[in-house]
Amino acid sequence: MTRHFLRDDDLSPAQQTRVLDLALAMKKRPYDALDNPGPLAGPRTVAMIFDKQTLRTQASFAAGIAELGGHPMLVDGTLAGIGVRESVEDVARVLGRQASIIVWRTFAQSRLDAMAEHSGVPVVNALTDDFHPCQLLADLLTIREHKGDLPGLTVAFVGDGACNMGNSWLLAGATAGLHVRISSPEGYAPDAAMVEAAATIAAGTGGSAVLEADPHAAVAGADVVVTDTWISMGKEDEAAERAHVFGPYSLTSALFAEAKPDAIAMHCLPAYRGKEIDAAVIDGPRSVVWDEAENRRHAQKAVLTWLLEEDPDE
Ligand code: NVA
Repeated sequence: MTRHFLRDDDLSPAQQTRVLDLALAMKKRPYDALDNPGPLAGPRTVAMIFDKQTLRTQASFAAGIAELGGHPMLVDGTLAGIGVRESVEDVARVLGRQASIIVWRTFAQSRLDAMAEHSGVPVVNALTDDFHPCQLLADLLTIREHKGDLPGLTVAFVGDGACNMGNSWLLAGATAGLHVRISSPEGYAPDAAMVEAAATIAAGTGGSAVLEADPHAAVAGADVVVTDTWISMGKEDEAAERAHVFGPYSLTSALFAEAKPDAIAMHCLPAYRGKEIDAAVIDGPRSVVWDEAENRRHAQKAVLTWLLEEDPDE
């Protein structure tokens, strides 16, 4: 059976731990594939398709695939016209004959699901409207490096909880045994079904997943404070009303001071200083955003390896 990484809960708690362990090992020896060729050496090709803007994702996948001895093949989503010029299903059938893995950043999650159903090779979510699971693996790796073992730590996410990052923090955080608090203005909280799914996972890992509308209550005593842009890709038309509504959820120095004294600040980037995060926080001594950006490469190398190598029954 072909394995995919379409959303955060495609990894069980044990699988997530193994991928993070592998990522840490790969970070220590980034060029290990020169001596010990892995499943991408050959080189085998990984197709990377972008229907939305990208910097970190394209750069970290391309660099990581090269370090694994593979070949990153960039497919321009606009030129391909997936779902317009030809169906997602036909694109999947064609790319599955050229590439060993397909990495896709797109809009609706259903497009990714259709790709996975028809490609015959593993498909990786490089961000959809609903999830950003590769970012979360990088973020969990970063927390492990700065805070040690994940279970029992408290993460407060302030901002647009209804976007991909809110959903992914719920699912991946619960899987890791974190206590996840999502704090958003009315109308911008994650779906109840997503919170429930995370709470169900958390029941088995010792974590928790809750909504806390008051950003001060959410951040109080947290080990990690996270935010994201208020205007995700595809929501540009809503910029004016969002800027108004999200003001109280800005990660200012004052709000960050309500977390633990040694709390770290996280942001998946791109960041808008003075909007969702103060320059003093993102550029301050407890910001780990550049580690997050670097860790995309290590985490994704581990996922790509795991998708091709591991026994699908485990
Ligand atoms: N929520 C943001 C994440 C960017 C990496 C977006 O979808 O634009």
